[in-house]
Amino acid sequence: MSNVTASAREHRITVRSLDQRKRKGEPITMLTAYDFTFARIFDAAGIDLLLVGDSLGNVVQGCDTTLPVTLDEVIYHTRLVARGVRRSLVVGDMPFGSYQVSSEDAVRSAIRMVKEAGAQAVKLEGGVQVAESIERIVGAQIPVMGHVGLTPQSVHKMGGFRVQGRGDQGRTRVIEDALAVQAAGAFAVVLEGIPAELGREVTQRLDIPTIGIGAGPDCDGQVLVMHDLLGLNDWTPSFVKQYANLGAVASSAARSFAEEVGNRKFPDEAHSYR
Ligand code: KIV
Repeated sequence: MSNVTASAREHRITVRSLDQRKRKGEPITMLTAYDFTFARIFDAAGIDLLLVGDSLGNVVQGCDTTLPVTLDEVIYHTRLVARGVRRSLVVGDMPFGSYQVSSEDAVRSAIRMVKEAGAQAVKLEGGVQVAESIERIVGAQIPVMGHVGLTPQSVHKMGGFRVQGRGDQGRTRVIEDALAVQAAGAFAVVLEGIPAELGREVTQRLDIPTIGIGAGPDCDGQVLVMHDLLGLNDWTPSFVKQYANLGAVASSAARSFAEEVGNRKFPDEAHSYR
């Protein structure tokens, strides 16, 4: 093995290095990505984990929910992302229908994510109810990230995209789900849409890292959907901080292009072949 390859490997994020990060109290970063270009940009920017989220149903496909997204679609996008990455850990999100029927189904879907798409880990939503599937996937040597609290694939059961974990019952459910995911062998868990104080408690009670989205500042890491981060959506939830306004930049570029084509300023001599 060449020295270059050896040093690149040393710096690659692994499930073991994430565990050490929790122990050292070093925050973990995760962003969603759906294609090669953004995967390359986020990887070079030092983002630890790239999640090929089923949120692609919302931000790439224009659906109201993530429910229509298929396993084949996530596999396709994960393959694009995996090609752009040198250091980040690529997590493929298991879409609705790919793991709910049986734990055999779950293992089969997870194997496809690794074999066909190049994912290094998979994520699935739910706690106590999916613990057996998590255990079976981990048994197949595939690292699993859990996802509890507001789980978008349960939108109809939740009666909308609502903050979870409020009230004694809700709070107990989130804690039990997170503990079940950990006991089943998950290497990390996403906490979505829960009160900040519950995010802190779950983070303190778990040995595995928690990655928060709308779960307050005390999680071991934070995740955002890239379209929210970059200002590419018309609307963002209140917990989102928009770090750029690429929507406005793209719109202005498209208008300038249209104007210059309209008045024959583009292409000029500098942008034409001789
Ligand atoms: O699909 C997704 O993007 C997610 C994140 C919001 C955690 O599950």
